[in-house]
Amino acid sequence: RKDLISIESLTREEIDTVHALAKHFKEIMATNPASLPSLRGRTILNLFIEPSTRTRIAFEIAAKRLGADVTLVEQAASSLTKGESLRDTAQVVEALQADTVVLRHSAAGSPLYLSKILNVPVINAGDGAHEHPTQALLDTFTMREKLGQSLEGKKITILGDILFSRVARSNIFALNKLGASVTLSGPATLVPDGFRQLGVEVDLDLKSALADADVVMLLRIQHERQTSTHFPSLGEYKSLYGLNQERASWLKPDAIIMHPGPVNRGVELDSSLADSNRSVILQQVANGIFNRMAVIYLCMAANNKNLISE
Ligand code: CP
Repeated sequence: RKDLISIESLTREEIDTVHALAKHFKEIMATNPASLPSLRGRTILNLFIEPSTRTRIAFEIAAKRLGADVTLVEQAASSLTKGESLRDTAQVVEALQADTVVLRHSAAGSPLYLSKILNVPVINAGDGAHEHPTQALLDTFTMREKLGQSLEGKKITILGDILFSRVARSNIFALNKLGASVTLSGPATLVPDGFRQLGVEVDLDLKSALADADVVMLLRIQHERQTSTHFPSLGEYKSLYGLNQERASWLKPDAIIMHPGPVNRGVELDSSLADSNRSVILQQVANGIFNRMAVIYLCMAANNKNLISE
């Protein structure tokens, strides 16, 4: 397929293919960090219409490691602020001969919409509360590095703001496909019972949600999206659900702590744990480069069979 829009639409085999290629790129980069020539002469457009640090920079490094040229367009510096539509922006992109578009947008569905207009690959870098597929690919890649290639039967507890989280949705789809068992926990208003329909456990008792977990994945409390008084304040969240040393003692000694970032230190996660050797947060960030190299390469190769033989 030329686009990466969601994990929901991927097969287990496609996830395995991305991970195998990401592992290959990681091994090559460990011995020779110079650029590969695979995408020399190609242009990748990073269209970030919502703020990002990790995803934007990792996509840029990934593209450059593959030899491509990269152009960044951010909302504040684009004609979108003058009212130009996403469709017109996309057609400009095509006229300027970009070979791939990476899109982050606050509107769920915008990458799918662009993929239907453009002939070049479109890669979703996070769309509203819908999906963040490359985050789930790098998260599950990191879990496989830490827990072993098979995640069958492993218990992954996702704790926090599930309701507004595209990261949670993409990880639920990826982990289900990889055979892991997913438990969601957090305040009832942020962990709706309806998520059970996605094939996960919902356990609002934090102690039992953490017990036996192989991984606890914390999510940022997205206070900017929580406009209703139904949601806990940051202080309430910290006192009831924040992962501190006492609550971390409920975990198995070898359980790992993950967070996609950015972290609200002292809210969903104590600084002492974020910086501890149980935390793999920075490995997640680093693995983002290799997984995005794999995704860019596979999407571009699917769109241009010549790329493989060049
Ligand atoms: N995890 C993640 O998407 O972080 P950024 O918003 O910094 O890209």
